[in-house]
Amino acid sequence: MENIDWKNLPFGYLKTDYNIRCYYQDGKWGELEVSSSEYVSLHIAATTLHYGQEVFEGLKAYRGKDGKIRLFRCRENAQRMVDSGSYLQMATPPIELFVEAVKKVVKLNERFVPPYESGATLYLRPLLVGSGPEVGVKPSKDYLFMVFATPVGPYFKMGFKPVDVMITYDSDRAAPLGTGHVKCGGNYAASLPAAVEAHRLGYATSLYLDAKEKKYIDECGPANFFGIKNNTYITPESHSILPSITNRSLITLAEGLGMKVERRPVEVSELETFEEAGACGTAAVISPIGKIFDPQLNKVYDYGCEVGPVSTKLYTLLRAIQYGDVPDTHQWVELVD
Ligand code: PLP
Ligand code: COI
Repeated sequence: MENIDWKNLPFGYLKTDYNIRCYYQDGKWGELEVSSSEYVSLHIAATTLHYGQEVFEGLKAYRGKDGKIRLFRCRENAQRMVDSGSYLQMATPPIELFVEAVKKVVKLNERFVPPYESGATLYLRPLLVGSGPEVGVKPSKDYLFMVFATPVGPYFKMGFKPVDVMITYDSDRAAPLGTGHVKCGGNYAASLPAAVEAHRLGYATSLYLDAKEKKYIDECGPANFFGIKNNTYITPESHSILPSITNRSLITLAEGLGMKVERRPVEVSELETFEEAGACGTAAVISPIGKIFDPQLNKVYDYGCEVGPVSTKLYTLLRAIQYGDVPDTHQWVELVD
């Protein structure tokens, strides 16, 4: 632990001291339990193992210059877990239980919250699984809610440097009226063929298109997509993308900077017209996009190898709020004390 090289941490799993568990049985949630085991004991017929009754969240704890630890919009993550779990017919943890569990796991693993300016953060992964046995396809009666913590560096190795991505035409992560708008594990399994192919060809991730027509942009790997042109922040509207809390925050910040915001279907052909493009999410923060390869047209959209001025401005402002460097005028930050 003393030897953690904070500045060079990958986005990966590192063992921490404790995680939190909470069981839903007989129609009610129990007490939060602290565990030091990295393993979970599950019934062999648990619905999560067979029918994918699993949803999760991702958020980060940031250590400020003042030494204090902050969470960013964690109640929004709590609400999204309720939305995701409800869609999969699961019992979901109440908002306050979620927030208490997240704060507790941060506190218990305080020594793993990376120092200010190291570029690393403590990543928190709340997850909810159907734990009861069923053999027919139906919702579990019992659930297990857990939160683990692990210190991470940037999701894309480059950090705040442009990444190259590739459009995927031959697979979909979610169906038009499917689960794309909720954060369930199945979406990520379905995204693997495209992600593996993108990596194999040297791209950081894949850009998903709408599953019906392959005409509009959906998402960019585990992040939302945005484009900038004419002082306007443009981001796709679609039923099959995850409502990103980062994206929602960038929209507010862009408006605050006097920019116009458009949330609407974005055709692939519009990529030609953007001055800047980027991927945004908790793990990705803002990952500027350098090039987008379109294998169908055998065409490359090139946004340059320097980060654009608008992406830089938004990134700087978002980070400053998350780390407590500027006043939290939107009430987005919650202290862990
Ligand atoms: N889209 C997908 C598919 C994701 O997995 C994530 C990450 O959670 C996001 C977008 C970004 O969402 P957020 O900004 O809430 O982290
Ligand atoms: C996040 O941004 O927190 C995510 O959950 C993305 C992830 C699947 C790595």
